[in-house]
Amino acid sequence: MRYPGLLTRYKHYLPVTERTPMLTLQEGNTPLIRAENLSEELDLDLYFKYEGLNPTGSFKDRGMVMAVAKAMEEGSRTIMCASTGNTSAAAAAYAARGGLNCIVLIPNNNIALGKLAQAIIYGAKVIAIEGNFDRALEIVREITAKHPITLVNSVNPYRIEGQKTAAFEVCEQLGGAPDYLAIPVGNAGNISAYWKGFKEYREAGKSDSLPKMIGFEAEGAMAIVKGEPITNPETVATAIRIGNPASWKTAVAAAEESDGKIDFVTDEEILDTYKWMASREGIFAEPASAASLAGVRKRKREGGFQGGEKVVCVLTGHGLKDPNIAIKSVQAEPMVVPDTEAAVMAAIARLEEA
Ligand code: F0G
Repeated sequence: MRYPGLLTRYKHYLPVTERTPMLTLQEGNTPLIRAENLSEELDLDLYFKYEGLNPTGSFKDRGMVMAVAKAMEEGSRTIMCASTGNTSAAAAAYAARGGLNCIVLIPNNNIALGKLAQAIIYGAKVIAIEGNFDRALEIVREITAKHPITLVNSVNPYRIEGQKTAAFEVCEQLGGAPDYLAIPVGNAGNISAYWKGFKEYREAGKSDSLPKMIGFEAEGAMAIVKGEPITNPETVATAIRIGNPASWKTAVAAAEESDGKIDFVTDEEILDTYKWMASREGIFAEPASAASLAGVRKRKREGGFQGGEKVVCVLTGHGLKDPNIAIKSVQAEPMVVPDTEAAVMAAIARLEEA
């Protein structure tokens, strides 16, 4: 049987009515991959929820399918969002699928190349502002409050509804909730959505326990950790370069209610983990995604695990979203040699020496 997409698969848990169009690009249903090598190294039972395998390459598709379907149900013709890149890619794709117009506001020079390419090719109207994500979101809120345009950032509650389905899948794939759920925190919608999903699945009798929610901001954008908004957030992980998270309160509640924590990781830890995960486990996720595993490594160093705990790291976006960072972070362009067997063998020998 063909996988029907999230709105059909989880319609009893979602605000789906008879009038909701069953929009889908077959989002969700992403793999939970056991980290065979890193589990041993970290003395954990470690898994990756690989959200990079969604149709536009990030977890945003889960929330966007729901938000766009509801916008269509309500007769909206145009959607709009602010984005560090992934939300705009998802909004543009689902708007194209549903026949809506899409306007996206992005911070100039601060979104990954692949994400910009996506928004453009899916046909969105893309506007780059001379300001950061937080400012873009303020402007989008102002415009959508005054005009018949639907806001599809995660302050739209349908986004959180769609995104909570990832927690359902984790429970199904593991046969219950994990001990820990590690997740990057930017605008803080996703950690809020997972927590809602885990609670609902337990209430429905589909899992027996709840995970401790451990969320990680990037050091240069750690508003929640600091307890105050950051005017000029900076991090190599542009996806989470956010200084005033919209879902701040619900993220703090998720950490507190679950006996978890919101902590931070440095850019150095993010980039080191990004490479480590790819080269040791064969999994390529974008830098922001690596914050979840970087955070688990930090907790491990600090003695925060006993050993053997079941830990799920959410890998929010695909590594190919940001090819420039990959090339830059290993500081290596491929070696160019003449097209002969001898030249290739000589190059292999030189690379092995290096
Ligand atoms: N990881 C990736 C790859 C993201 O794109 C985002 C957010 C996050 C993590 C953080 O999730 O905001 O729910 O806490 N990206 C948004 C965007 C802001 O515009 O694409 P969050």
